[in-house]
Amino acid sequence: MKTHTVVMIPGDGIGPEVTTATRKVLEAAGAPVRFIERHAGIAALDRGTDDLLPAATVDAIRQHGVALKGPCTTPIGKGFSSINVALRKKLNLYAAVRPVRSLAGVKTRFQDVDLVIIRENTEGLYSGVENQITDGVIVSMKVATRVACHRLTHWGFRYATHRRRQKISLFHKANIMKMSDGLMLDEARKVHEHDYPNIEYEEVIIDAGMMKLVQDPTKFDIIMCENLYGDIISDLCAGLVGGLGVTPGANIGDEDAVFEAVHGSAPDIAGNNLANPLAMIMSATMMLNHIADRRQDLTCRQASERIKTAYNLALEDGQKTRDLGGELGTKEFTQAVIERL
Ligand code: NAI
Repeated sequence: MKTHTVVMIPGDGIGPEVTTATRKVLEAAGAPVRFIERHAGIAALDRGTDDLLPAATVDAIRQHGVALKGPCTTPIGKGFSSINVALRKKLNLYAAVRPVRSLAGVKTRFQDVDLVIIRENTEGLYSGVENQITDGVIVSMKVATRVACHRLTHWGFRYATHRRRQKISLFHKANIMKMSDGLMLDEARKVHEHDYPNIEYEEVIIDAGMMKLVQDPTKFDIIMCENLYGDIISDLCAGLVGGLGVTPGANIGDEDAVFEAVHGSAPDIAGNNLANPLAMIMSATMMLNHIADRRQDLTCRQASERIKTAYNLALEDGQKTRDLGGELGTKEFTQAVIERL
């Protein structure tokens, strides 16, 4: 049986807890992966490097093509820039994919949500270009390029086709940001018309779109958007299906892919066995499917399916962490999943 090398980045805060849990579940499921550990963020500084994103970490991902990453802390309003944003840019991981699905064992207002957010991951207001023009006047630059808008929208329509999804809703604010958001609309329209006319396509002004989402998320299939909107919509959608503890994600480029949960490093609960590891476990199942697709390895898909069945069974049996109204800690929930494999 072939074994795939995956770069494991534990990250900061709850990162080491949820990545350790995920590793245990993958091992117990017999997933054909071998982890090599590399570091990023404050965890990298703690290990004596003077670089928040060491070249050894980026090089390892380039070499092996796949990473599973815990969250990295970014200071608010001051300090260093986001390591997460830097990594996505460095590796050109231009498409963030975040499936949002209701889970049978997790009761929320809506029980049949099944949508996917596809977020542009390399530009927009995350260009990080901010200038003080004069005292008390700051300008933040929102960057949109035709190249990035084209590759994202093309990727999104192709994904929709492969996954047999019916409809793409492009969330935008091109009534105000006529040029930058307008460019994304322009590219999406062209890609839709020329290459994917069979996928239904609609344009939704984001403010009204957010209202429609909370009123009835089942009306949406794929939501595509630029970087900042995607960040905000992701957390809102997480709230529709049980919270940040149950929403996985992937950052995909033409060469490499980094899988990570939507949530951050949750410093308020870090180190206390309180984190829900499920979002990271789910991200790992996405990773296994990605390896299965790219390297035609059925055993990865089988391991992914076993893990999904096990965590669904655990939830249906009422085995839940506190964020979902249960009593279990990170380790106990992980054990409950392993017992059901
Ligand atoms: P957060 O996602 O870390 O936490 C928001 C709330 O959700 C907190 O109350 C937290 O306890 C809870 N939460 C998050 N994940 C959970 C889990 N797995 N189980 C149970 N509860 C969970 O967002 P916040 O507080 O805005 O950011 C904290 C730090 O994380 C910041 O430094 C931020 O920059 C960073 N961050 C990193 C990300 C990444 O590495 N991809 C993504 C988002 C934020």
